[in-house]
Amino acid sequence: MSSPSTYAPPGEMLHSAEAVQAAIAHQAEWLRPRLANENPLVVVLLQGALYYAAWLTLALAIPLEIACVDVGRYGRGRSGGVLAWRQKLAADVGGRSVLLLDDIFDEGATLAAVRAACIAAKAREVRSAVLLRKRHDRARAQEPDSAALEVPDCFVVGCGLDDAGRWRNLPAIYALDERALPRSLPDRVAERIGT
Ligand code: IMP
Ligand code: MG
Repeated sequence: MSSPSTYAPPGEMLHSAEAVQAAIAHQAEWLRPRLANENPLVVVLLQGALYYAAWLTLALAIPLEIACVDVGRYGRGRSGGVLAWRQKLAADVGGRSVLLLDDIFDEGATLAAVRAACIAAKAREVRSAVLLRKRHDRARAQEPDSAALEVPDCFVVGCGLDDAGRWRNLPAIYALDERALPRSLPDRVAERIGT
C-alpha cells in the first residue's frame, strides 16, 4: 500500500478541505435563490478560481453558463502588481445576469477591472463571489457580494491559489511561511513569463 502524501507547503493550515467544501455549500445556498431564475453567465477568473468555480457551480445546481477570463496582477510575485489581461472575455454579456468568481478578494482591483469590462459590454447585472476575503482595510474597490471564508492578511495558497504556479492543487488553504521559502521571481520577470 502506498504511504499518504506529504504534499503541503511550509505554513499553517487555515481552512481544512472539509471546511472549504462546507463553506462553498453554504455560499451556494445563499446564492441559489438569487440566481435560480436568471440563467446567469458565470465568469471564472483564471487561473486561481479554477477549482472554486467547479465546486461552486456544482453546488449551485441551477441552469447557468460558464465563460472564462484570464486576468491577474500577481504574476510570480507575492504582492500585487500591474493588472495583466491574458485572455479577455469572449462571451456576449449584453443583457445577461453575470456572476464573477475569483479565488480571493484582496484589494479588489482584479474584480473591479472585470466588473467594469462587463458593465461596458452592457451586462444587465454583475454580482461577484469569492472563495476567500483577506482581512484588512486596504480594499479600495466594491466588496464582493459573497465571500465563502476569511483569511488573515498573509499570503495564502491552495484550492487554486498559487505561489509562482505551485500549490494550486491542494484541497485546503494554507498560510505560506515566507521565511521558509525563497522569494518568488520579481513581478517584472513574471510579466515576461506571463503566468
Ligand atoms: P486584488 O486585485 O488585490 O483583489 O487581488 C486579487 C488577486 O490577486 C486574486 O485574483 C489572486 O489571484 C491574487 N492574490 C491575492 N492575494 C493572494 C494570495 O494570498 N495568494 C495567492 N494569490 C493571491
Ligand atoms: Mg487571480
